[in-house]
Amino acid sequence: MSNKLTDNQAFSKTILLWYRQNPRDLPWRETKDPYTIWLSEIILQQTRVAQGTPYFYKFIEAYPTVKQLAEAPEEEVLRLWQGLGYYSRARNLHYCAKYIWHELGGLFPSTYQDLLKLKGVGSYTAAAISSFAFGEKQAVVDGNVFRVLARVFGIESDIATGKAKKEFEKLANELIPAESPAEFNQAMMDFGSRKCVPKNPDCESCPLRGECFAFKNNLVGSLPVKINKTKVRERKIHYFVVKCGKHWVWKRRKTGDIWEGLYDFPSKDQMPEIEEIALSLEPQHIQSPTKEYRHLLSHQKLSVGFSEIELPQGAYSQLEKYCDDAGLNLVAEDEIDFLAKPKLIVNYLKDKGI
Ligand code: ADE
Repeated sequence: MSNKLTDNQAFSKTILLWYRQNPRDLPWRETKDPYTIWLSEIILQQTRVAQGTPYFYKFIEAYPTVKQLAEAPEEEVLRLWQGLGYYSRARNLHYCAKYIWHELGGLFPSTYQDLLKLKGVGSYTAAAISSFAFGEKQAVVDGNVFRVLARVFGIESDIATGKAKKEFEKLANELIPAESPAEFNQAMMDFGSRKCVPKNPDCESCPLRGECFAFKNNLVGSLPVKINKTKVRERKIHYFVVKCGKHWVWKRRKTGDIWEGLYDFPSKDQMPEIEEIALSLEPQHIQSPTKEYRHLLSHQKLSVGFSEIELPQGAYSQLEKYCDDAGLNLVAEDEIDFLAKPKLIVNYLKDKGI
């Protein structure tokens, strides 16, 4: 037996032993149902376990099977997703449910290769579902796994590159034991997120400290290597919140937008005429932006202001006509809660007590 294999087996044994001594009760770990596991993994791509768990319960309660999700209106799915961000994940979720229900006769794909064909399912999610639901020997590689492997095995490749991803996937697939792929994958996720944490891990109490390259070479703080090339653009948005009595003017975002399908307000850059039109309807009250809302998206830093324009009840029919022509929506205040909205709009409404 080569040394390398002995090391690999020792690593897997240690990780599994740690996991068995530090189990975590997570609701999606009690099932082998691929639909439930898929749902949890798509939510967890987007957020941490603590924030994701209430969303998981909300979704599984509203849509206990793929059929119910397939038959739900898209707006309702987006509304349930509200607050998680990256709404294309929710749209893909809905798209796949419809595809599975209508095209695959409701039969969830059951192999790694077939799972990869689903929209929004990459190698990580396909490995998670195929191992957890079907016991397939496919190793998951996410940020946690990158970190554990880079440190223990001293891998200095830039984890932002596709080449490194392949390298880590190859290693993880050599490490994963055939007898317990699901448990090993869960162990790696948990070990990375709870023990081998990004900042100040407690290496003294780590069961792998004897073998860990980074610990032995004082490189824990510098591994994994990630060279960030993403350029973040600063963007200002000036919204107009036009109200007439108990009705507000809303705009539904169109195809191709990161907020596709969500509701926000008309803005100065996208609908410059809104200000002039609202002012021509003799507002009772105008409020310039009082606060700057900041919001970070994957490639954009938003700084957002809201101008509020209150129109008299008598302006309603003119406003309604304008909204019809301009593709805007007049929404009654007590219906606002049902609209799917970007997080920063929810934050603004919260400040307004809505
Ligand atoms: N993060 C992503 N998937 C997870 C899972 N199945 N359990 C815990 N954390 C996760």
